[in-house]
Amino acid sequence: MAPSTSDRKKFFGRLFNYANNGLTIAGVVLTTLSGLLIIVFIVAQLWGGLDNPYIGLFAYVFLPAIFVLGLIEIPIGMWRRRRKLIKAGATEAELTTYPRLDFNDPHMRRVALIVIGLTALNTVILGVASFRAVEEMETVEFCGETCHTIMQPEFTAYQDSPHSRVACVDCHIGPGASWFVKSKLDGLRQVWHTALGTYQHPILTPLHTLRPARETCEQCHWPNKHHGDKLRVFSRYGTDEANTPSYTAMLLKTGGGSLDIGRHGGIHWWHIYSDNRIRYISPDESRDEITWVELTTPDGGVRTYTRDGEDLPTDQEITDARIMDCIDCHNRPTHTFHVPAKGLDWILDTHPELVDLPYFKRQAVAAVEGDYETHSAGVNAVREAILEFYETEYPDLAAAQPDLVRQGAESAALAYGKVVFPEMDTNWETHPNHIGHDDFPGCWRCHDDEMATADGEHVIPMDCENCHVFLVEDSPELPDFAAALELN
Ligand code: HEC
Ligand code: HEC
Ligand code: HEC
Ligand code: HEC
Ligand code: HEC
Repeated sequence: MAPSTSDRKKFFGRLFNYANNGLTIAGVVLTTLSGLLIIVFIVAQLWGGLDNPYIGLFAYVFLPAIFVLGLIEIPIGMWRRRRKLIKAGATEAELTTYPRLDFNDPHMRRVALIVIGLTALNTVILGVASFRAVEEMETVEFCGETCHTIMQPEFTAYQDSPHSRVACVDCHIGPGASWFVKSKLDGLRQVWHTALGTYQHPILTPLHTLRPARETCEQCHWPNKHHGDKLRVFSRYGTDEANTPSYTAMLLKTGGGSLDIGRHGGIHWWHIYSDNRIRYISPDESRDEITWVELTTPDGGVRTYTRDGEDLPTDQEITDARIMDCIDCHNRPTHTFHVPAKGLDWILDTHPELVDLPYFKRQAVAAVEGDYETHSAGVNAVREAILEFYETEYPDLAAAQPDLVRQGAESAALAYGKVVFPEMDTNWETHPNHIGHDDFPGCWRCHDDEMATADGEHVIPMDCENCHVFLVEDSPELPDFAAALELN
């Protein structure tokens, strides 16, 4: 049987009467306002008006929380009022009457004005406060230092990198709402793991949830910038008593460019900007080994490369193949954990006076490669090992130049401190760098002269000159480029 009109009237009357209490009214106001604001944010973001990644935290996390809070308040207020009314012995008629909102009544008008005024003020306060919270969470300090131990390896490497002024969120989230929401959901999962202590040691790499790099890196490094050839000088130091240096200088064919600007070519052009699409398959999650490569050229031609005798991938593996982007070469643009020998080369390069310490490179590498319980124990042990070496093996030197010996000890400790984090099981071996081929397979994962098309027509080339041209190789002197340019 359908409810009669008078039944319905009675029902609504009762509802309004119950709703006539502070808690419920506050709930209605909160819910309505936050609801409206959420809609405004969604529309603004759809129009691309809001690019700040953490606006989303406000619009999609904070506001909904308020919204839900309001929703919860409404029935609680009603339930409390009903109990109160019944306790006070209210009659059925009283319970069903509507509250009277008479704006001719000056008292009522004043109350209404106060309520409206306070609500408006609250909205402003709430809005500003949440906006500040949002800004706070975007800071590098928040990302890098909140969960100190867990983020320490990445944060330490970051501070020392060319991107130390680029916010974590610019690479890890980028603009737009959808990646923001994805990263927040991922963040919640991480908070959970942190609370339970079940997070990964080390934080595994590669990150399979990372946004396609071209959408983040290309905010700052635009596609058709032609880098030309890049001059690189590698200073390397021997493990002999004199820490003998040797220098290799090369032009790396970084390239880039576009057909529109005419100038194009080189490494960037080939893999990214030429509209060649390269996909590849790695047999495990690590991407350290590559077993299948496919090249689709702009004219639609497709070539696949495999190594003789290796198993062919399944159709499913081919569907899931990864499209190559920036981080398949630049996987460590900012979190670089240098191999100890290279880290010490850099230190010797920047502090040339340390070359005077006999066997410094050999001793420092051995100390950094040692096994230590914790990060701080390791830093101290490396420092002590260097001090002790010179005190016992070269006491005259240690007595004559204590400052130099101390500086050597501090530098070696720093080389350790930047790359080894036992608490997170993180070191140079757990996070290989793909940019070259000297310490890790890198480019040679594909460019090994063995990856070839089935007909043998095309090979992914390993010729040194394809990628770089040597100006000097293992020279004992640092080439004088300024003088060379002067002569030309
Ligand atoms: C220049 C861009 C960039 C910036 C800035 C940046 N990262 Fe990363 N980060 C990356 C890339 C690229 C990877 C993924 C490497 C991969 O998947 O192979 C990564 C990986 C990570 C990882 C996973 C572990 C690892 O080392 O691979 C963590 C954790 C991390 N970043 C934290 C941070 C924090 C915290 C900050 C800010 C203090 C930050 N990142 C700033 C680009 C960046
Ligand atoms: C917010 C801007 C910004 C973003 C995003 C960004 N970079 Fe950079 N990047 C820079 C700046 C600025 C420099 C130059 C730093 C310098 O010369 O000190 C730089 C330098 C570099 C260099 C040269 C490093 C060197 O040793 O000379 C590489 C390679 C690089 N970026 C790769 C990347 C990759 C890969 C990504 C994406 C994962 C990325 N960048 C994202 C701003 C950015
Ligand atoms: C096939 C590998 C590869 C890919 C893919 C790649 N790069 Fe590079 N990139 C290199 C190499 C190699 C260098 C030179 C590295 C060096 O200095 O030793 C370089 C250098 C750079 C530099 C520094 C240029 C300079 O003149 O100092 C920037 C910036 C950069 N890359 C950004 C990017 C961005 C952004 C992407 C993705 C859109 C990308 N790269 C994709 C291999 C690659
Ligand atoms: C996932 C596989 C893969 C990786 C990793 C890779 N490349 Fe390539 N690269 C290719 C393919 C495929 C071609 C096209 C080969 C052909 O011409 O048949 C190519 C072409 C090139 C070319 C142009 C060669 C020519 O014929 O002129 C250069 C230069 C190059 N790569 C440099 C690099 C460098 C430097 C790195 C590492 C930083 C690198 N590549 C990493 C797959 C890869
Ligand atoms: C597919 C591209 C590619 C090929 C082929 C290639 N290289 Fe390289 N090589 C690189 C890149 C990229 C770097 C720079 C790495 C970096 O930025 O640290 C490099 C760096 C080097 C270095 C300096 C290493 C260091 O850190 O001291 C040497 C030496 C070198 N290459 C030798 C060779 C020789 C010899 C060949 C030929 C057998 C060769 N390369 C072939 C891409 C290539």
